[in-house]
Amino acid sequence: MKTHDIEFKLNGEKIKASVKPNRSLLDFLRNEMGIKSPKVGCDRGDCGACTVLMNGKTVRSCLVLAVEADGCEIVTTEGANKNKLTQKLQKKFHEKNAFQCGFCAPGVILSATELLTENPKAGREEIKEAISGNLCRCTGYEPIVDAIEKTAKK
Ligand code: FES
Ligand code: FES
Repeated sequence: MKTHDIEFKLNGEKIKASVKPNRSLLDFLRNEMGIKSPKVGCDRGDCGACTVLMNGKTVRSCLVLAVEADGCEIVTTEGANKNKLTQKLQKKFHEKNAFQCGFCAPGVILSATELLTENPKAGREEIKEAISGNLCRCTGYEPIVDAIEKTAKK
């Protein structure tokens, strides 16, 4: 299969690559770039474990083709860790014991980062809406919502 040349920013770094047109961004990030925070959950757009930021907006990287990243800015949790807001969120998640196994964590943190970037004083219902695409099998969601709410109020 013919490959396509792409260029994009990944966590602030310029990347040049040649990718097959049917390769997902998730597979490319994990297996070519060694970026492991986006998780392979359902691999069909249902769970949000593979969430990354594409030009500041959350996308499910299992549903995005690597070729679609051409010219874009992609941020994963590895890159978002440098963002002050993301750091505050992580601190609150830690304080509230908001994660157990942590499989959903990178996706949830990025969804919360997107929400509070756009709406720093988001309320509980807006928070629930923002993370509704991120499935968590462990926590029952309440501590996650509490942690985001506490960060929003700071
Ligand atoms: S792995 Fe992408 S949404 Fe589940
Ligand atoms: S903490 Fe286990 S899936 Fe969310």
